[in-house]
Amino acid sequence: MKVLVVGSGGREHAIVRALLRSPQRPEVLCAPGNAGIGQDAQLLDIAADDLPGIVEAAERSGVSLVVVGPEAPLVAGLIDALQARGMPAFGPSAAAARLEGSKTFAKEVMVAAGVRTASFEVVESVEDGLAAVSSWPVVIKADGLAAGKGVVIAHDEQTTRAALEAFLLERRFGTERVLVEEHLEGQELSLLALCDGVRALPLAPARDYKRAGDDDTGPNTGGMGSYSPVEGVGELQVEEIVATVHQPVLDWMRRQGTPFHGVLYAGLMLTSNGPKVLEFNVRFGDPETQAVLPRMSSDLLALLCSASTLGGLEGERLLWREQAAVTIVLASEGYPDAPRTGVPITGLSTMPSDIEVTHAGTAIVDGQIVTAGGRVINVTALGPEMRSARAAAYAAAQRIHFDGMQMRSDIAAGQAEEREQ
Ligand code: AMP
Ligand code: GLY
Repeated sequence: MKVLVVGSGGREHAIVRALLRSPQRPEVLCAPGNAGIGQDAQLLDIAADDLPGIVEAAERSGVSLVVVGPEAPLVAGLIDALQARGMPAFGPSAAAARLEGSKTFAKEVMVAAGVRTASFEVVESVEDGLAAVSSWPVVIKADGLAAGKGVVIAHDEQTTRAALEAFLLERRFGTERVLVEEHLEGQELSLLALCDGVRALPLAPARDYKRAGDDDTGPNTGGMGSYSPVEGVGELQVEEIVATVHQPVLDWMRRQGTPFHGVLYAGLMLTSNGPKVLEFNVRFGDPETQAVLPRMSSDLLALLCSASTLGGLEGERLLWREQAAVTIVLASEGYPDAPRTGVPITGLSTMPSDIEVTHAGTAIVDGQIVTAGGRVINVTALGPEMRSARAAAYAAAQRIHFDGMQMRSDIAAGQAEEREQ
């Protein structure tokens, strides 16, 4: 069986690796991939957002399933285009992908489906935005896709105004609307579920680290590290979140005639008043996937086929290894604002075999692997408990070097300490 994975990040590398572990021994292709994915899969030189190019390549290569990693092609309608040619694909239609593509649409769905989320107002002018603030801190969100950069947590009027002006006057993310949202306190949780339009099958809970610096300082990024499972979030709580968040959204989307297939990723804040949704994503998380998939012992290929546009998840179960996983992201100097690229990477060949090194922004130039993006390499280690997984991940990360390399030193730190007590 041939499978085409669309995308070029650490998430896609982790998906490729998990598919290759399938007992069905698939042949895996990836468009466009990166230097590391090229060691595991056949690369096709087609950009993830070249929709006609991807459809044509999938047909020409005779693939039996297309798995779409990033949000942009999903929001742009890649699944619809593949479906129109009768090709099985894993991911939501453009109509269902609006759950990520428009934060105001996601809020409308949550209100209609009775899903708990931060209170909010939608505004279209800076003055209305300022008037909507009742106290600080407040969260200002651009309506469209912004690669994690469209959210500002403002602590005073000046920052609030600056964010509103950047989003509404400069149209930084091409949006005409902004959410002014209640600031929630608590621990974050990423709970992803495989969905077949009707059912939601939760993946193991994970946590990611969005801010660039230790102790959650610095700007928001795509994610600087992750771990799974999450202490204190057991099966019962997972079931309750699926029943109160994922399932009502699936039911509502189905009733609207836009059933949701693919991964529904709920970004949650575990507040003192219970879990509340911060955002939905319509795809695997990056870097959560790098920590979650190595723990999965079920056949990912079979699951993705069942959750695809032509399948059904009834009777499927997910099995997990009783191990903890920690993923450390190694990022370029200047990330997230202006990452420096083209820098040679060393140490990759000295990795212990039990460490999963996935590539994000890498390329091969003159035979040398160099940095080619903001997030460059992800190092994942498994261990019998979080503490040993964390130690192994950091020991491995320290073997890798490129000039200006940034990484957080506190990924899974609290969890490891909790375990020690
Ligand atoms: P989002 O893209 O909506 O998930 O926002 C990115 C990050 O901003 C989240 O992972 C949180 O860390 C933070 N954030 C978003 N909304 C809120 C909120 N209402 N309260 C507190 N933090 C938030
Ligand atoms: N880790 C956050 C995301 O995938 O959007």
